[in-house]
Amino acid sequence: STTEITLNNGVHMPQLGFGLYLVSDTEAETAVRTALGTGYRSLDTATLYGNEEGVGRALRASGLPREEVFVTTKLWNDDHGYDRALAAFDRSLERLGTDQVDLYLIHWPVPARGAYPDTWRALARIYAEGRARAVGVSNFTTAHLTRVIEDSGLVPAVNQVELHPWLPQRELRRFHAEHGIATEAWSPLGRGHGLLQEPVVRNVAAKHLRTPAQVVLNWHMRLGNIAIPKSTNPARIAENLDIFTFELDDEDMAAIGTLDNGRRVGPDPDVYGD
Ligand code: A2P
Repeated sequence: STTEITLNNGVHMPQLGFGLYLVSDTEAETAVRTALGTGYRSLDTATLYGNEEGVGRALRASGLPREEVFVTTKLWNDDHGYDRALAAFDRSLERLGTDQVDLYLIHWPVPARGAYPDTWRALARIYAEGRARAVGVSNFTTAHLTRVIEDSGLVPAVNQVELHPWLPQRELRRFHAEHGIATEAWSPLGRGHGLLQEPVVRNVAAKHLRTPAQVVLNWHMRLGNIAIPKSTNPARIAENLDIFTFELDDEDMAAIGTLDNGRRVGPDPDVYGD
């Protein structure tokens, strides 16, 4: 029920996934069971979220073959450095109860420590060992990306960044396209800060007899982004997946394009961690 993106190593990733930021371990188990039952086949967790175990329990309870669900997790900021990263990855696998993840990401470049190039070399090893089907980064700027690419020769499969109509990341998306990096959007709905109440979004939604969230997610799909909306509400979990039976037209895309105002709902990678 979701389209797929082909990553730069040929691995297929569902274009729409289920986000788990700010979901407790117990809630995550319930939410993931609902999401998998609804048809989601991609889950986005992180060491920071503290819910890898709940995600693992829900995965096993679903009865789905492991290879049918695309699982992403991330390395947290206090696990940077080559040896620490390898150990952190092992602990994530253990919590998830799996021997392979589909995508492993560096959560933040934390430039203050400057260790992310060493961390990236550890992820390259994890990838070479087949313990992650793809490796990537999160919250990297073009400068961070350039550094790890030049340093290791391995191009991240994905860069997961804050991205929504207020912050469409045009320049970064152009850089990704030039280098074969897939763009993944976190807080694709703007995390409840009023994006879904924008008159422009509401008008497009009314035109298509869809909800504002469905319009924004469809906008992501049309741009070629991977998006991972988060919800713990079963009706909204279903609503957010039901976006593949309508299409925004150029006029809708242009209207939503006017919402670009640079507004962030999370930390700016240019200053975070300094
Ligand atoms: P809830 O979990 O109660 O559904 P983002 O993924 O951009 O960070 O946004 C997540 C926020 O948006 C959560 O607060 C979530 O609340 C809310 N949300 C998720 N899906 C929808 C939807 N379809 N309509 C309205 N709000 C939504």
